[in-house]
Amino acid sequence: MAMMKPLCCLNGLVQPVAEARIDPLDRGFLFGDALYDVVRVVEGSLLHLDAHLARLRGGLERIDIVVPAALADDCRQLVAASELETGYLYLQVSRGVAPRSHQPPSGIAPTVLIVPMAHLFDAPASRALRAISQPDRRWMHCDLKTTSLLGAVMGKIDMRDAGVDEVLFVGDQGQVREGGSSNFFVRHGDVLETHPADGRILEGITRGILLELAEQIGLPCRETPPLLSEREEWQEAFLCGTLTGVQPLVELDGEPVADGVVGAWTKQLAEALEKRNRNDS
Ligand code: PDD
Repeated sequence: MAMMKPLCCLNGLVQPVAEARIDPLDRGFLFGDALYDVVRVVEGSLLHLDAHLARLRGGLERIDIVVPAALADDCRQLVAASELETGYLYLQVSRGVAPRSHQPPSGIAPTVLIVPMAHLFDAPASRALRAISQPDRRWMHCDLKTTSLLGAVMGKIDMRDAGVDEVLFVGDQGQVREGGSSNFFVRHGDVLETHPADGRILEGITRGILLELAEQIGLPCRETPPLLSEREEWQEAFLCGTLTGVQPLVELDGEPVADGVVGAWTKQLAEALEKRNRNDS
């Protein structure tokens, strides 16, 4: 992998990460009063940047954080300056700096941090992922890409201790919502099922593209929660996301999913996504 320069962009200023300073009274640090997004970088170009920024801006508006003006330019400037080829940008926007008080002051200048990360992506449908499931102990607004990720972090610790690749969060009726950092699809009765974007999941950019691609390919889809009680009927399952791409889930809670191999629809969608990403980059 070509070397990337360890730079970041803080409030519009590109500088070495080691020199960037964030105020201890920043509300992102004190309250998790911040949103983030993750944009994949392919051969130096930003993949689906508009969709990621639209999601970020929409979230910021909903929680009344001032929307920064120059996000797209800052991202492009940083990719060029850091010489990042393959990896992703992490973007975080917090409400900004103010004397500590739960009630947010209005109209303060947000803190905008963008950091490049070098990352090697797995080839489409090349892994055989294993997961555990557990009750969803996150909050009610998973559609907001909040930096307050303690629920997800706790799930990821359990996942690590179980020696698997992902944790799946499940509602109290056994509805599989999503992974700790990925969305989840199953093929059930020759229909693709994925949890509806009803606030209990992050409406993934990859998920949205896959729903479009499935329609183009002619794979029927239903935005309905996959149910753990029906897992014996699942014909295949996969996880998806900006960093994951599309990867098959072959084992859940120590038992194989379907016959424990990569499913045909998973492969087809993984390849269609790869092709679409190549065209869009
Ligand atoms: N997370 N669900 C959750 C809970 C996620 O954190 C993510 C991605 C996704 C997939 O969304 P998208 O296709 O837009 O990447 C679904 C990023 C990659 C992260 O937190 O690093």
